[in-house]
Amino acid sequence: MEGRIINNKSNKDIYILGIETSCDDTCASVIKNGTRILSNVISSQDEIHRKYGGIVPEIASRQHIEVIDIVIKEALEKANISIERIDAISVTNRPGLIGSLLVGVGAAKALCYLKKIPIIGINHLEAHLYANIINNPGIRGGVGLIVSGGHSSLYHIESGWRITEIGHTVDDAAGEAFDKIARYLGLGYPGGPIIDRLSKKGRDDRFDLPRPMIDSGDFNFSFSGLKTSLIYRTKKDKNIMSKENVADLAASFQKAVVDVLVKKSLDAVVKYGCDSLLVSGGVAANSLLREEFAAGGREKNIEVYIPPLGLCLDNAAMVAALGYYKYLKGDFGALDMDVYSRSDL
Ligand code: KG4
Ligand code: ZN
Repeated sequence: MEGRIINNKSNKDIYILGIETSCDDTCASVIKNGTRILSNVISSQDEIHRKYGGIVPEIASRQHIEVIDIVIKEALEKANISIERIDAISVTNRPGLIGSLLVGVGAAKALCYLKKIPIIGINHLEAHLYANIINNPGIRGGVGLIVSGGHSSLYHIESGWRITEIGHTVDDAAGEAFDKIARYLGLGYPGGPIIDRLSKKGRDDRFDLPRPMIDSGDFNFSFSGLKTSLIYRTKKDKNIMSKENVADLAASFQKAVVDVLVKKSLDAVVKYGCDSLLVSGGVAANSLLREEFAAGGREKNIEVYIPPLGLCLDNAAMVAALGYYKYLKGDFGALDMDVYSRSDL
């Protein structure tokens, strides 16, 4: 099977600056030859959005404007490289919040115009899958799972990195469900990491919650009913929200989400006759998910790739890595490149 890997035929080292501002993190990274991360700077807005219990798009784009120059400068400094040595800039231009995307794309266009270097438009979802390629450039395809605040989808990645969606969530994304349940339980924002930590102190078999669509026979997900089921459960018993019970609720909820994601993803690998699974997105940072995928992969003889924690959440290293392969193919964008709130792979 032909893989994604295209050789760099010139012997020259290639440096790509990646820029990512599709949601609420302002990120810039420099990558050498697609695999060596020289810098990976992330300016998080979690603190700013916490008091609203979720991302406020208008505030996100304004904050990107405040810090984008500083973040790019820091990425170049940490990589110990001058902008003159950068061969191309790759930037997320889809899908995402329009105001947020515009800031990253605007910065990339200005730099590319000034320095007369190519601009490369990147699909944020494809970049998430690429977070696995940075450390494993030999991966030749398989099934991809993207689980984040905005997406829960499965993809079949075929020869030459042709990607077809084989399933998606019919309602909430997994990360969105984590965030909503954390808010309901009064735990704070973003919910995923908080539930992850709290679950370690709780019993995951204490509350019998459903595993929606686990045996549906297709590769779609649904997390909204699970959320409603937990809320319904707590409404029936007003005394349930004690500190100890909340840890059990969090653990039971997390276990239900993880069981569904792991079972359906591994089933998809078998169904599509693959031997690898590429997991990515913010929820891939979840410690139970990582454990269950490792165990399930061993049992079914499936190679499960999950990026290191710093490459699961939104970051620009994955954008720069994908940019490198597009650079080798001459797959450049134009300086009048647009941004798109929605975009499939
Ligand atoms: O990929 P990402 O940074 O942004 C999007 O593209 O959405 O993912 C953010 C999502 C949030 O919903 C957050 O709660 C979730 O990832 N998340 C986690 C964990 N860390 C982040 N969910 C479960 N467990 C975690 N440890
Ligand atoms: Zn993302």
